Amino acid sequence: MKKNSKIVVANWKANPESLKSAKQIFQGLKKINSKAKGVEIIVCPSYVHLAELKKARGSSSVGLGAQDFFPGSGGAFTGYVGYESLLDLGVKYAIIGHSERRAGGETNEIIAKKMETALLNGVSPILCVGEEERDGSMAYLDHIKNQLIDAFYKIPKAKVSRVMVAYEPLWAIGKSAKRSANPSEIQEIVIFIKRVLSDLYKTRSVPPIKVLYGGSVSPSGAAEMFSLSGVDGFLVGRASLLPKDFSEIVMSISAI
Ligand code: PGA
Repeated sequence: MKKNSKIVVANWKANPESLKSAKQIFQGLKKINSKAKGVEIIVCPSYVHLAELKKARGSSSVGLGAQDFFPGSGGAFTGYVGYESLLDLGVKYAIIGHSERRAGGETNEIIAKKMETALLNGVSPILCVGEEERDGSMAYLDHIKNQLIDAFYKIPKAKVSRVMVAYEPLWAIGKSAKRSANPSEIQEIVIFIKRVLSDLYKTRSVPPIKVLYGGSVSPSGAAEMFSLSGVDGFLVGRASLLPKDFSEIVMSISAI
């Protein structure tokens, strides 16, 4: 991850259904990566497609990420995937604390352990934070603050710049979302995240951390969202499975 680059993460979730389509989409994203200037693309496919996509990557600079991992080092944990086997597949990034995993019971404590394990093993975390609803009060800020403090409390200051934080309000994610967040809503949280981290690490300077936005990111409005909100990039779900849409998102911020 270069200091000044913009980041676009493709979160494929449990898609696509076949390896053949995964390879086709990946080839499309690889092409976009070779054209885009100043943008780093990170693809987070399903575990079962990682090995083949590592081969398909060849010498391309597309990053490979995991959507989750087990923070222990192997052992008797049926159904889990340990970080060591992911390192072997070229994984350099991992999404941690996505709301779809938090909904499945992932606690702030587990997330803290994953943050620590990732950073100790050369994996850059993409930590997801975000509120469920906004009820007219400022409670969403407390919620995000707690998620950040709990995730970072074991992370030494020297490692903070290796973490990316993705602001993903639950109301903006997925098919049932009514809309994406608007640039001023995102900007408020970008500033807030940086403030919480500078308080936590007792530093007056802005922490050298990349903040991404995720939730219904689409080609329409991506450039405006990027230039008006102060984010360093996007975490893209549905549109990352459509190379044409993904290309428009990446190219629109590559030009800025
Ligand atoms: P979406 O998903 O872009 O499909 O809203 C984003 C995410 O859940 O990371």
